[in-house]
Amino acid sequence: MNAKISHQATSLRVERPGRAATDFPAIWLRDNCRCAACRHPGNGQRLYEITDLPPSLSIQDVARESDGSVRIVWAPDGHVTVFSELWLNDHDLSSEARKSRKKKPTLWNKSNGNAKPVGDWRQMVADPAAELAFLDAYHAHGFGLIRHSPAVPETVLAIGNHLGFVRVTNYGALFDVISLPNPNNLAFTPIGLGVHSDNPYRDPTPGVQLLHCLESDAPGGDTLLVDGFNAATILRQEDPAAFDLLTRMTVNFRFRADNAELNARQTLISVDEDDDIVGVHFNNRSLDWLDAPAEMVEPWFAAYRKLADILHRPDGELVFRLAPGDCVVMQNDRALHGRTAFDPSRGRRHLQGCYVDKDGLDSRARVLRRRLNEKKGVAAWTRCAPFARPSTSAGRTAMAKG
Ligand code: OGA
Ligand code: ZN
Ligand code: ZN
Repeated sequence: MNAKISHQATSLRVERPGRAATDFPAIWLRDNCRCAACRHPGNGQRLYEITDLPPSLSIQDVARESDGSVRIVWAPDGHVTVFSELWLNDHDLSSEARKSRKKKPTLWNKSNGNAKPVGDWRQMVADPAAELAFLDAYHAHGFGLIRHSPAVPETVLAIGNHLGFVRVTNYGALFDVISLPNPNNLAFTPIGLGVHSDNPYRDPTPGVQLLHCLESDAPGGDTLLVDGFNAATILRQEDPAAFDLLTRMTVNFRFRADNAELNARQTLISVDEDDDIVGVHFNNRSLDWLDAPAEMVEPWFAAYRKLADILHRPDGELVFRLAPGDCVVMQNDRALHGRTAFDPSRGRRHLQGCYVDKDGLDSRARVLRRRLNEKKGVAAWTRCAPFARPSTSAGRTAMAKG
Protein backbone atom coordinates (compact mmCIF):
# COMPACT_ATOMS: atom_id res chain seq x y z
CA MET A 1 0.00 0.00 0.00
CA ASN A 2 1.25 3.47 -0.62
CA ALA A 3 -1.27 5.78 0.86
CA LYS A 4 -0.59 9.48 1.13
CA ILE A 5 -0.95 10.71 4.68
CA SER A 6 -1.63 14.30 5.69
CA HIS A 7 -2.99 15.88 8.83
CA GLN A 8 -4.59 18.81 10.51
CA ALA A 9 -4.66 19.41 14.26
CA THR A 10 -7.86 17.39 14.71
CA SER A 11 -7.73 14.78 11.96
CA LEU A 12 -5.58 12.51 9.86
CA ARG A 13 -6.30 12.09 6.13
CA VAL A 14 -5.42 8.90 4.25
CA GLU A 15 -5.51 8.98 0.43
CA ARG A 16 -5.10 5.72 -1.42
CA PRO A 17 -4.66 5.53 -5.18
CA GLY A 18 -8.03 5.29 -6.92
CA ARG A 19 -10.08 5.77 -3.77
CA ALA A 20 -11.74 8.69 -2.03
CA ALA A 21 -9.76 10.28 0.79
CA THR A 22 -10.79 9.14 4.23
CA ASP A 23 -10.47 11.09 7.48
CA PHE A 24 -9.84 9.85 11.01
CA PRO A 25 -10.71 12.25 13.85
CA ALA A 26 -7.95 12.84 16.40
CA ILE A 27 -9.91 11.67 19.45
CA TRP A 28 -10.81 8.44 17.66
CA LEU A 29 -7.16 7.76 16.76
CA ARG A 30 -5.97 8.48 20.26
CA ASP A 31 -8.65 6.22 21.73
CA ASN A 32 -7.30 3.42 19.54
CA CYS A 33 -3.76 3.74 20.83
CA ARG A 34 -2.56 0.27 21.89
CA CYS A 35 0.64 1.31 23.63
CA ALA A 36 1.33 -0.37 26.97
CA ALA A 37 0.28 2.78 28.84
CA CYS A 38 -3.11 2.87 27.11
CA ARG A 39 -4.01 -0.82 26.89
CA HIS A 40 -3.18 -3.86 28.94
CA PRO A 41 -0.60 -5.70 26.83
CA GLY A 42 -2.11 -9.10 27.62
CA ASN A 43 -5.81 -8.52 27.01
CA GLY A 44 -6.00 -5.23 25.12
CA GLN A 45 -8.44 -3.65 27.59
CA ARG A 46 -8.23 0.09 28.23
CA LEU A 47 -6.19 1.22 31.21
CA TYR A 48 -7.62 4.77 31.26
CA GLU A 49 -10.95 6.55 31.54
CA ILE A 50 -12.08 8.87 28.78
CA THR A 51 -11.73 11.72 31.28
CA ASP A 52 -7.99 10.94 31.56
CA LEU A 53 -7.38 12.05 27.96
CA PRO A 54 -6.49 15.72 27.48
CA PRO A 55 -9.68 17.58 26.47
CA SER A 56 -7.71 19.78 24.07
CA LEU A 57 -6.10 16.86 22.26
CA SER A 58 -4.50 17.56 18.89
CA ILE A 59 -2.08 16.01 16.41
CA GLN A 60 1.28 17.69 16.78
CA ASP A 61 3.25 15.72 14.24
CA VAL A 62 2.93 12.75 11.87
CA ALA A 63 5.80 10.73 10.43
CA ARG A 64 6.13 7.52 8.40
CA GLU A 65 8.25 4.70 9.71
CA SER A 66 10.42 2.56 7.43
CA ASP A 67 7.73 -0.16 7.22
CA GLY A 68 5.07 2.39 6.25
CA SER A 69 3.50 2.66 9.71
CA VAL A 70 2.10 6.03 10.69
CA ARG A 71 3.58 7.58 13.83
CA ILE A 72 1.54 10.28 15.55
CA VAL A 73 2.86 12.60 18.25
CA TRP A 74 0.10 14.15 20.33
CA ALA A 75 -0.18 17.58 21.92
CA PRO A 76 -0.32 18.63 24.64
CA ASP A 77 1.10 15.51 26.34
CA GLY A 78 3.71 14.30 23.81
CA HIS A 79 2.15 10.80 23.77
CA VAL A 80 3.05 8.65 20.74
CA THR A 81 0.77 6.28 18.82
CA VAL A 82 1.73 4.09 15.87
CA PHE A 83 -0.75 2.62 13.36
CA SER A 84 -0.06 0.20 10.54
CA GLU A 85 -1.53 1.24 7.20
CA LEU A 86 -3.35 -2.06 7.08
CA TRP A 87 -5.12 -1.35 10.33
CA LEU A 88 -6.20 2.10 9.19
CA ASN A 89 -7.45 0.53 5.97
CA ASP A 90 -9.49 -2.07 7.88
CA HIS A 91 -11.04 0.59 10.10
CA ASP A 92 -11.94 3.11 7.40
CA LEU A 93 -14.82 5.28 8.67
CA SER A 94 -16.20 6.29 5.27
CA SER A 95 -19.84 5.37 4.73
CA GLU A 96 -18.96 2.94 1.89
CA ALA A 97 -16.41 1.13 4.06
CA ARG A 98 -18.80 1.00 7.01
CA LYS A 99 -21.53 -0.37 4.76
CA SER A 100 -19.24 -3.01 3.31
CA ARG A 101 -18.27 -4.19 6.81
CA LYS A 102 -21.91 -4.79 7.71
CA LYS A 103 -23.16 -8.35 7.26
CA LYS A 104 -26.11 -8.50 4.90
CA PRO A 105 -28.74 -11.16 5.49
CA THR A 106 -29.52 -13.50 2.61
CA LEU A 107 -33.29 -13.18 2.28
CA TRP A 108 -35.18 -16.35 1.34
CA ASN A 109 -38.60 -17.61 0.42
CA LYS A 110 -40.07 -20.78 -0.99
CA SER A 111 -38.33 -20.44 -4.35
CA ASN A 112 -34.76 -20.01 -3.11
CA GLY A 113 -35.06 -21.34 0.45
CA ASN A 114 -34.96 -24.99 -0.41
CA ALA A 115 -31.25 -24.69 -0.82
CA LYS A 116 -31.38 -24.51 2.95
CA PRO A 117 -28.27 -24.43 5.06
CA VAL A 118 -27.62 -28.01 6.09
CA GLY A 119 -24.87 -29.40 8.30
CA ASP A 120 -24.02 -32.98 9.12
CA TRP A 121 -23.56 -33.32 12.87
CA ARG A 122 -20.94 -36.06 12.58
CA GLN A 123 -18.84 -33.87 10.30
CA MET A 124 -19.44 -30.75 12.36
CA VAL A 125 -18.04 -32.27 15.55
CA ALA A 126 -15.06 -33.76 13.72
CA ASP A 127 -14.12 -30.85 11.48
CA PRO A 128 -14.09 -27.18 12.60
CA ALA A 129 -14.28 -26.06 8.94
CA ALA A 130 -17.54 -27.98 8.50
CA GLU A 131 -18.93 -26.48 11.70
CA LEU A 132 -17.92 -22.98 10.60
CA ALA A 133 -19.49 -23.50 7.16
CA PHE A 134 -22.74 -24.44 8.90
CA LEU A 135 -22.57 -21.42 11.23
CA ASP A 136 -21.81 -19.02 8.37
CA ALA A 137 -24.81 -20.33 6.46
CA TYR A 138 -26.96 -20.13 9.62
CA HIS A 139 -25.91 -16.51 10.13
CA ALA A 140 -26.71 -15.53 6.56
CA HIS A 141 -30.12 -17.27 6.48
CA GLY A 142 -31.14 -17.02 10.14
CA PHE A 143 -31.54 -20.78 10.39
CA GLY A 144 -29.87 -24.06 9.59
CA LEU A 145 -30.75 -27.74 9.65
CA ILE A 146 -28.40 -30.19 11.31
CA ARG A 147 -28.78 -33.77 10.13
CA HIS A 148 -27.57 -37.07 11.52
CA SER A 149 -27.32 -36.22 15.18
CA PRO A 150 -28.15 -39.06 17.59
CA ALA A 151 -31.92 -39.51 17.89
CA VAL A 152 -31.67 -39.88 21.65
CA PRO A 153 -33.13 -37.68 24.41
CA GLU A 154 -31.13 -34.60 25.48
CA THR A 155 -29.13 -34.46 22.26
CA VAL A 156 -30.64 -30.98 21.83
CA LEU A 157 -28.70 -29.89 24.94
CA ALA A 158 -25.48 -31.36 23.60
CA ILE A 159 -25.96 -29.46 20.32
CA GLY A 160 -27.00 -26.25 22.10
CA ASN A 161 -24.03 -26.39 24.45
CA HIS A 162 -21.64 -27.21 21.63
CA LEU A 163 -22.72 -24.22 19.52
CA GLY A 164 -23.37 -21.84 22.44
CA PHE A 165 -24.84 -21.88 25.95
CA VAL A 166 -28.26 -23.26 26.75
CA ARG A 167 -30.51 -20.86 28.63
CA VAL A 168 -32.61 -22.37 31.42
CA THR A 169 -36.17 -21.06 31.65
CA ASN A 170 -39.35 -22.02 33.50
CA TYR A 171 -39.65 -24.82 30.90
CA GLY A 172 -36.34 -26.19 32.20
CA ALA A 173 -33.11 -26.53 30.22
CA LEU A 174 -35.08 -28.38 27.55
CA PHE A 175 -38.76 -28.85 26.79
CA ASP A 176 -40.50 -31.83 25.28
CA VAL A 177 -42.77 -31.00 22.37
CA ILE A 178 -45.35 -33.77 22.63
CA SER A 179 -49.09 -33.84 22.89
CA LEU A 180 -50.01 -33.52 26.59
CA PRO A 181 -53.41 -33.95 28.32
CA ASN A 182 -53.48 -30.54 30.07
CA PRO A 183 -51.02 -28.34 28.23
CA ASN A 184 -50.11 -24.82 29.41
CA ASN A 185 -49.03 -23.99 25.85
CA LEU A 186 -50.57 -24.86 22.47
CA ALA A 187 -47.14 -26.18 21.45
CA PHE A 188 -47.85 -29.17 23.70
CA THR A 189 -51.00 -30.18 21.77
CA PRO A 190 -51.38 -31.72 18.30
CA ILE A 191 -52.84 -28.45 16.97
CA GLY A 192 -51.11 -26.77 14.04
CA LEU A 193 -49.07 -23.68 14.94
CA GLY A 194 -48.85 -20.63 12.71
CA VAL A 195 -45.38 -19.25 12.20
CA HIS A 196 -44.10 -17.43 15.26
CA SER A 197 -41.11 -16.40 17.32
CA ASP A 198 -40.86 -18.31 20.59
CA ASN A 199 -41.36 -16.62 23.93
CA PRO A 200 -41.49 -12.92 22.99
CA TYR A 201 -42.87 -12.57 26.53
CA ARG A 202 -39.35 -13.01 27.93
CA ASP A 203 -36.89 -10.20 28.45
CA PRO A 204 -34.57 -10.81 26.77
CA THR A 205 -36.44 -12.95 24.27
CA PRO A 206 -34.51 -16.15 23.49
CA GLY A 207 -32.11 -15.40 20.66
CA VAL A 208 -31.91 -18.88 19.16
CA GLN A 209 -34.22 -21.85 19.33
CA LEU A 210 -33.30 -25.46 18.64
CA LEU A 211 -35.86 -28.17 17.87
CA HIS A 212 -34.50 -31.70 17.73
CA CYS A 213 -36.55 -34.57 16.39
CA LEU A 214 -36.69 -37.88 18.27
CA GLU A 215 -39.77 -39.40 16.62
CA SER A 216 -41.94 -38.32 13.71
CA ASP A 217 -44.27 -41.18 12.73
CA ALA A 218 -47.55 -39.34 13.26
CA PRO A 219 -49.23 -38.11 10.10
CA GLY A 220 -48.84 -34.31 9.80
CA GLY A 221 -46.53 -32.26 12.00
CA ASP A 222 -44.50 -30.81 9.13
CA THR A 223 -42.22 -27.90 10.01
CA LEU A 224 -42.96 -24.44 8.59
CA LEU A 225 -40.36 -21.70 8.32
CA VAL A 226 -40.69 -18.13 7.08
CA ASP A 227 -37.97 -15.50 6.77
CA GLY A 228 -39.27 -12.68 8.98
CA PHE A 229 -36.69 -10.28 7.47
CA ASN A 230 -37.99 -11.05 3.99
CA ALA A 231 -41.58 -10.52 5.15
CA ALA A 232 -40.68 -7.21 6.82
CA THR A 233 -38.85 -6.13 3.65
CA ILE A 234 -41.99 -6.86 1.61
CA LEU A 235 -44.13 -4.92 4.10
CA ARG A 236 -41.74 -1.97 3.86
CA GLN A 237 -42.11 -1.99 0.05
CA GLU A 238 -45.87 -2.50 -0.01
CA ASP A 239 -46.86 -0.26 2.91
CA PRO A 240 -44.06 1.91 4.32
CA ALA A 241 -46.39 3.58 6.86
CA ALA A 242 -47.46 0.21 8.29
CA PHE A 243 -43.82 -0.88 8.46
CA ASP A 244 -42.88 2.31 10.25
CA LEU A 245 -45.66 1.91 12.80
CA LEU A 246 -44.57 -1.63 13.64
CA THR A 247 -41.02 -0.40 14.25
CA ARG A 248 -42.18 2.34 16.62
CA MET A 249 -45.10 1.03 18.66
CA THR A 250 -44.26 -1.43 21.40
CA VAL A 251 -46.72 -4.12 22.38
CA ASN A 252 -46.87 -6.46 25.31
CA PHE A 253 -46.53 -10.24 25.17
CA ARG A 254 -47.69 -12.37 28.08
CA PHE A 255 -47.50 -15.94 29.30
CA ARG A 256 -48.78 -17.49 32.50
CA ALA A 257 -48.37 -20.94 33.95
CA ASP A 258 -48.26 -22.35 37.48
CA ASN A 259 -44.63 -21.36 37.88
CA ALA A 260 -44.44 -18.28 35.65
CA GLU A 261 -46.02 -14.90 35.00
CA LEU A 262 -44.05 -13.42 32.14
CA ASN A 263 -44.43 -10.06 30.44
CA ALA A 264 -42.24 -8.27 27.92
CA ARG A 265 -42.76 -5.25 25.75
CA GLN A 266 -41.28 -4.89 22.30
CA THR A 267 -41.92 -3.76 18.74
CA LEU A 268 -42.88 -6.39 16.15
CA ILE A 269 -40.12 -5.13 13.85
CA SER A 270 -36.80 -3.66 14.99
CA VAL A 271 -34.47 -1.57 12.85
CA ASP A 272 -30.97 -0.34 13.58
CA GLU A 273 -29.53 3.15 13.21
CA ASP A 274 -29.23 2.68 9.43
CA ASP A 275 -32.90 1.60 9.25
CA ASP A 276 -31.85 -1.96 8.40
CA ILE A 277 -34.20 -4.67 9.70
CA VAL A 278 -32.59 -6.44 12.65
CA GLY A 279 -35.46 -8.21 14.39
CA VAL A 280 -38.98 -9.54 13.88
CA HIS A 281 -41.04 -10.85 16.77
CA PHE A 282 -44.41 -12.29 15.94
CA ASN A 283 -46.59 -14.52 18.08
CA ASN A 284 -50.38 -14.42 17.82
CA ARG A 285 -50.81 -16.74 20.80
CA SER A 286 -49.06 -14.66 23.40
CA LEU A 287 -49.77 -11.11 22.19
CA ASP A 288 -51.33 -9.29 25.16
CA TRP A 289 -54.07 -6.62 24.99
CA LEU A 290 -52.83 -3.52 23.21
CA ASP A 291 -52.03 -0.83 25.74
CA ALA A 292 -51.82 2.14 23.34
CA PRO A 293 -53.53 5.50 22.75
CA ALA A 294 -57.03 4.75 21.40
CA GLU A 295 -56.37 6.54 18.11
CA MET A 296 -53.37 4.29 17.42
CA VAL A 297 -55.27 1.04 17.89
CA GLU A 298 -56.86 0.74 14.44
CA PRO A 299 -53.72 1.76 12.53
CA TRP A 300 -51.64 -0.68 14.56
CA PHE A 301 -54.05 -3.57 13.98
CA ALA A 302 -54.17 -2.78 10.25
CA ALA A 303 -50.36 -2.86 10.11
CA TYR A 304 -50.23 -6.06 12.20
CA ARG A 305 -52.74 -7.73 9.87
CA LYS A 306 -50.66 -6.73 6.83
CA LEU A 307 -47.54 -8.25 8.32
CA ALA A 308 -49.49 -11.41 9.20
CA ASP A 309 -50.89 -11.59 5.64
CA ILE A 310 -47.38 -11.47 4.23
CA LEU A 311 -46.11 -14.06 6.72
CA HIS A 312 -48.94 -16.39 5.69
CA ARG A 313 -48.29 -16.16 1.93
CA PRO A 314 -47.46 -19.68 0.75
CA ASP A 315 -44.69 -18.39 -1.54
CA GLY A 316 -42.72 -17.30 1.51
CA GLU A 317 -42.98 -20.52 3.43
CA LEU A 318 -40.64 -23.52 3.58
CA VAL A 319 -42.41 -26.75 4.49
CA PHE A 320 -40.33 -29.79 5.39
CA ARG A 321 -40.42 -32.78 7.62
CA LEU A 322 -37.97 -33.35 10.43
CA ALA A 323 -36.65 -36.90 10.60
CA PRO A 324 -35.31 -38.46 13.80
CA GLY A 325 -31.82 -37.01 14.40
CA ASP A 326 -32.61 -33.73 12.61
CA CYS A 327 -32.23 -30.50 14.56
CA VAL A 328 -33.36 -27.15 13.24
CA VAL A 329 -31.47 -24.14 14.64
CA MET A 330 -33.40 -20.89 14.27
CA GLN A 331 -32.57 -17.28 14.94
CA ASN A 332 -35.70 -16.58 16.94
CA ASP A 333 -36.02 -12.93 15.91
CA ARG A 334 -35.83 -13.79 12.23
CA ALA A 335 -36.70 -17.34 11.13
CA LEU A 336 -40.29 -17.73 12.28
CA HIS A 337 -41.39 -21.32 12.74
CA GLY A 338 -44.62 -23.27 12.96
CA ARG A 339 -45.99 -26.73 12.23
CA THR A 340 -48.96 -28.37 10.61
CA ALA A 341 -51.40 -30.27 12.83
CA PHE A 342 -50.62 -33.92 13.54
CA ASP A 343 -52.62 -36.95 14.55
CA PRO A 344 -51.23 -38.45 17.76
CA SER A 345 -53.63 -41.40 17.56
CA ARG A 346 -51.87 -42.68 14.43
CA GLY A 347 -48.22 -42.39 15.36
CA ARG A 348 -45.76 -40.76 17.67
CA ARG A 349 -44.22 -37.34 17.34
CA HIS A 350 -41.63 -36.17 19.83
CA LEU A 351 -39.34 -33.16 19.57
CA GLN A 352 -37.11 -31.65 22.21
CA GLY A 353 -36.34 -27.96 22.19
CA CYS A 354 -34.06 -25.54 23.98
CA TYR A 355 -32.99 -21.91 23.81
CA VAL A 356 -29.48 -20.61 23.30
CA ASP A 357 -28.32 -17.01 23.46
CA LYS A 358 -27.54 -15.48 20.09
CA ASP A 359 -24.14 -14.13 21.06
CA GLY A 360 -22.95 -17.65 21.88
CA LEU A 361 -23.30 -18.77 18.26
CA ASP A 362 -21.81 -15.51 16.97
CA SER A 363 -18.82 -16.02 19.25
CA ARG A 364 -18.46 -19.68 18.30
CA ALA A 365 -18.19 -18.77 14.62
CA ARG A 366 -15.56 -16.09 15.34
CA VAL A 367 -13.51 -18.44 17.51
CA LEU A 368 -13.58 -21.18 14.85
CA ARG A 369 -12.57 -18.68 12.17
CA ARG A 370 -9.74 -17.34 14.31
CA ARG A 371 -8.43 -20.85 15.02
CA LEU A 372 -8.63 -21.86 11.37
CA ASN A 373 -6.89 -18.64 10.30
CA GLU A 374 -4.18 -19.15 12.89
CA LYS A 375 -3.65 -22.62 11.52
CA LYS A 376 -3.31 -21.17 8.03
CA GLY A 377 -0.78 -18.65 9.40
CA VAL A 378 -2.90 -15.51 9.22
CA ALA A 379 -1.88 -13.94 12.52
CA ALA A 380 -4.64 -12.51 14.66
CA TRP A 381 -2.79 -9.19 15.04
CA THR A 382 -3.46 -8.28 11.41
CA ARG A 383 -7.06 -7.62 12.30
CA CYS A 384 -6.96 -6.24 15.82
CA ALA A 385 -3.65 -4.66 16.75
CA PRO A 386 -3.01 -1.31 15.16
CA PHE A 387 0.72 -1.24 15.54
CA ALA A 388 2.11 -4.72 16.12
CA ARG A 389 4.72 -5.63 13.53
CA PRO A 390 5.02 -8.97 11.81
CA SER A 391 7.96 -11.03 12.93
CA THR A 392 7.21 -14.08 10.80
CA SER A 393 6.99 -14.47 7.06
CA ALA A 394 3.40 -15.66 7.49
CA GLY A 395 2.58 -12.37 9.14
CA ARG A 396 4.18 -10.40 6.33
CA THR A 397 2.25 -12.29 3.71
CA ALA A 398 -0.96 -11.48 5.49
CA MET A 399 -0.08 -7.82 5.65
CA ALA A 400 0.80 -7.64 2.00
CA LYS A 401 -2.55 -9.16 1.09
CA GLY A 402 -4.28 -6.36 2.99
C1 OGA B 1 -42.48 -24.92 19.77
C2 OGA B 1 -42.98 -25.12 18.42
C3 OGA B 1 -43.12 -26.65 16.60
C4 OGA B 1 -43.28 -28.12 16.34
O1 OGA B 1 -42.45 -25.88 20.54
O2 OGA B 1 -42.07 -23.79 20.05
O3 OGA B 1 -43.25 -24.18 17.77
O4 OGA B 1 -42.85 -28.53 15.26
N1 OGA B 1 -43.05 -26.39 17.98
O5 OGA B 1 -43.85 -28.83 17.16
ZN1 ZN C 1 -0.98 5.12 24.11
ZN1 ZN D 1 -42.42 -22.38 18.73
